[in-house]
Amino acid sequence: MPSVSSLLDLKKLSVDQIKELFFFAENLQKNQPKILSSAAGKTLALLFFEPSTRTRLSFETAAHRIGLGPLRMDDRASTSLEKGESIEDSIYNVAAMGPELIVVRCGDEVELDKVAAQISMPVINAGWGKRGHPTQALLDLYTMLQVSPQIEGKKIVFVGDISHSRVAASHFELLQSFGADVQMCGPKDWLPSMSNQAFHHIDQVVENADFVVMLRVQLERHGSGTQFSASDYRQSFGLTTERLARLKKSARVLHPGPINHGVELDSLVLQDPRCLVLKQVANGVSVREAILRKMLTGELL
Ligand code: CP
Repeated sequence: MPSVSSLLDLKKLSVDQIKELFFFAENLQKNQPKILSSAAGKTLALLFFEPSTRTRLSFETAAHRIGLGPLRMDDRASTSLEKGESIEDSIYNVAAMGPELIVVRCGDEVELDKVAAQISMPVINAGWGKRGHPTQALLDLYTMLQVSPQIEGKKIVFVGDISHSRVAASHFELLQSFGADVQMCGPKDWLPSMSNQAFHHIDQVVENADFVVMLRVQLERHGSGTQFSASDYRQSFGLTTERLARLKKSARVLHPGPINHGVELDSLVLQDPRCLVLKQVANGVSVREAILRKMLTGELL
């Protein structure tokens, strides 16, 4: 079976392709086009083997806007996973039903690249273990570019559980090609071993950052035995209201969600006009709709 162009990471996308995608997403936001008549009777499979709110529902919203019927598989208890069917077999069986595209969220244990190579429609990575979450990184960059159309040289600081973050992994494939000055701040054991611009206390980065991307502490990916104190973490890495006051006026705060309130950031931070968290969510629909529309016509990859 020939491998079709799936979106599993961002390595194949050029800066020009991404800019064109964002231009298209912006147009969708300004002038919502009609549903595609060619989508009538066709489906988009949304296979979520790990929990999700934003990613799943934004893809589903985008499917409705395009006119694709969403085929949802996200409630393990109501599927044959409960009878021991594997995730790989589940994907192959849904693929046999002929959706136009398959959107998958799964853990690292799934060899999604090998599965995608076996089926005849493109697969979109909607969060794959620690490996990547390309559509989140794209919508984050889109959101940053709305604030700062010239991203080159801007200090973008990722704070928190970086080595377990698929969002950060995808950003590291993306941001350097846009010329951003990417920095990391987190506990020593939660930073990639190769990190050069690494800091171990948020106070070292908060005053100079142009964008602060707060990341969720992903205890579910740490394995047993991890000692974690939420209050110690907040002390060293939390974006508190006091630290918010020290951010530049022009700086912006992002978080891909879901948020652990009072750990990664204080609830009041969400009310600050510099906080883009819900803007990210709104943009997620348009960016994902743009990805789907372009993949349906073979224009993205
Ligand atoms: N950012 C993100 O992936 O959120 P969900 O887990 O809710 O989809």
